Amino acid sequence: MIKLTIDSRTIEIEEGTTLLEAAKRAGIYIPTLCYHEALTPIGSCRVCIVEVASNGKSGLTAACTYPVEPGLKVITNSEKVSEARRLALELLLAQHPHSVRIQRLAQKLGVNPPPFTLEEKECILCQLCTRTCREIVGASAISFISPGLGRENNEAQIEVSQIKCIACGSCCYACPTQAISMEDSGDTRTICTPSGQMEFKLKRCNNCGRYWAPQKQLEYMAEKSGLELAAFDLCTDCRD
Ligand code: FES
Repeated sequence: MIKLTIDSRTIEIEEGTTLLEAAKRAGIYIPTLCYHEALTPIGSCRVCIVEVASNGKSGLTAACTYPVEPGLKVITNSEKVSEARRLALELLLAQHPHSVRIQRLAQKLGVNPPPFTLEEKECILCQLCTRTCREIVGASAISFISPGLGRENNEAQIEVSQIKCIACGSCCYACPTQAISMEDSGDTRTICTPSGQMEFKLKRCNNCGRYWAPQKQLEYMAEKSGLELAAFDLCTDCRD
């Protein structure tokens, strides 16, 4: 077990736990945006910044990726921390003023839209879509061509493989800025990404006749579960 302090509270927790998880278990709130408990954290949005001090050194770090260390002193609510979170959110607001998730988070933390604007972008490089597709769905259909923040060309290029994509739409739900979205119309589901759009056929329910799920998703589920494809002939409403 590792002993550390978070906001002057002594906490004992298993090795390998992150500061965010440790704080959560102790009931201490740390805001997050690119973090999801079911996914591997990548520390990209910097909203979960905390101050850490150990062996006479201190600094700011992303709580979602930093593992607990013995004797570490963590501060989640200092002025330095608030300032760093404010800056991170202002940048996000300046580039994604229409993201409801970012707006809500900013409101919760008392951060106002900044007095400047930046070129509006859709993707915030949080990679929730790629991680969801790979780690939860298991399709690994989405990748970034140039994810490099700070590189000469830091424009994210989301590439979705039409072959691997099963059109489940999980990425659309995970995306905080609607950089990826989908729409069902008639027998077609259209998935839109910053780099283009793809169309997938929807399956019609054998009983009520409504189009209820992407054909590719059902084939994927049948393959993973070992069920016959015919097991998906009826929509969820028409099953016993
Ligand atoms: Fe930790 Fe985004 S939630 S960096």
